[in-house]
Amino acid sequence: MPAANDLAQRDIDSLIHPYTNLDAHKTQGPLVVKGGDGCFIVTEDGTRYLEAMAGLWSASLGFSEKRLVEAAYRQMQQLPFYQIFGGRSNEPVIELADRLLKIVPEGLSKVLFANSGSEANDQAAKLVWYYHNAIGKPRKKKIIARERAYHGVTAYAASMTAQPINHMDWDLPLGGVLRTDAPSHYIFGQDGESEEAFVDRIVGNLERLIVREGPETVGAFIAEPVNGGGGVIVPPPGYFAKVQEVLRRYDILFIADEVICGFGRTGKMFGCDTFGIKPDIMTVAKALSASYMPISATIVSEKIADAMEAQSRKLGNFGHGVTYAGHPVAAAVALETLKIYEERDLVGMVGKVAPYFQERLRRFTSHPIVGEARGVGLLGALQLVKDKARRTSFVAADGVGPVVQAAAQRHGVLLRASPEAVYFSPPLIIQKDEIDTLFDALGAALDEGLAHAEQKGLLGMKAAAE
Ligand SMILES: Cc1ncc(COP(=O)(O)O)c(C=O)c1O
Repeated sequence: MPAANDLAQRDIDSLIHPYTNLDAHKTQGPLVVKGGDGCFIVTEDGTRYLEAMAGLWSASLGFSEKRLVEAAYRQMQQLPFYQIFGGRSNEPVIELADRLLKIVPEGLSKVLFANSGSEANDQAAKLVWYYHNAIGKPRKKKIIARERAYHGVTAYAASMTAQPINHMDWDLPLGGVLRTDAPSHYIFGQDGESEEAFVDRIVGNLERLIVREGPETVGAFIAEPVNGGGGVIVPPPGYFAKVQEVLRRYDILFIADEVICGFGRTGKMFGCDTFGIKPDIMTVAKALSASYMPISATIVSEKIADAMEAQSRKLGNFGHGVTYAGHPVAAAVALETLKIYEERDLVGMVGKVAPYFQERLRRFTSHPIVGEARGVGLLGALQLVKDKARRTSFVAADGVGPVVQAAAQRHGVLLRASPEAVYFSPPLIIQKDEIDTLFDALGAALDEGLAHAEQKGLLGMKAAAE
């Protein structure tokens, strides 16, 4: 239905929306959001929605944290912009880097700021190349990324991403990206295969890939501790320990993409802490500033920082940087965010509500269209299946995901659904009663998804008959 009011029409006439069917948008129109309040957002017509995705897995402190507003205002008055090129600096960015380094996993020693998760990952890839040139291993450049990975949309981040929609007709991926398995035992495990055997098989595949390509040509492996956009894939126990053993054997760097997992989402400060990852490079964004300002960072180990210094000594400059890297207002807001995390013991707060969140999520396992309920901390997903016994997921043409998403919205909850799964990543400040609101609405939405599937005769359909 065409949007009736003027604002919606002007949106249609003037805006290109990321990740939106641009043609369908002309008739569906936008959902115009005008305000926020804790875990809720309020649309232009006054409707309140519980934001079960914290926007884009990101608004960790919800939508009305006054301290961040004040931090931005104070910094705007003090110094609204200055660059950090050419050795110039500002107080908030220095404080922020210093504070970040106190909480990141051991061994990380220097911070390179940017504006988005995509840029942070893009510059992580560039640093892999730069580092290996610096240490005299110019062939060690390929980067292994996993199936279902999401690392962003800039040209190289999109290349490391494994979503078809990010490659189709974009002339991507660019060269130098190798692909290895996603660690979902539920989706990719073979009949009768234990989790342990699954891990051994896919880590074996990783090692064979490295040997086949030649370890002297493989520079890095990139992974989200929990893959978000590809399905909230929580790795089985032992997966990352075994992956790291292989990487160490062939002297391959580990890039941890903490853009979603960072800052408490998985129940510890970083996904690396939850899963015992010792990264050489770590990228953060989103919850770094509670998403109130665009800011991201690529954080590198000492050996990489040393090599960068040596290269700039040799070449006369460090030939990389974006205008807004270290933007003082973004840095001030991120700094205040980290202070709030510490003062309110954010990780402890997540630890208190996460067991209830996970328990309520797992209750849906008995629902007829739910194959698996999975998650960790305040991150979760339900796999939507047409055949539980055969673990056959719905596909896009079935239309079940969108039905569940739309139904949840009618019940006052904004969540995200793919054709085969529903995702949850609420603000980290969510309370028990709001978790109830979320999952009560979800129950009703799943029943509507079931009714849709029954009506279309989808249940029990074999994959082969799709
Ligand atoms: C794991 C991960 N990495 C990178 C990105 C890209 O971040 P951005 O959208 O800020 O460029 C995202 C975005 O959702 C993400 O989930």
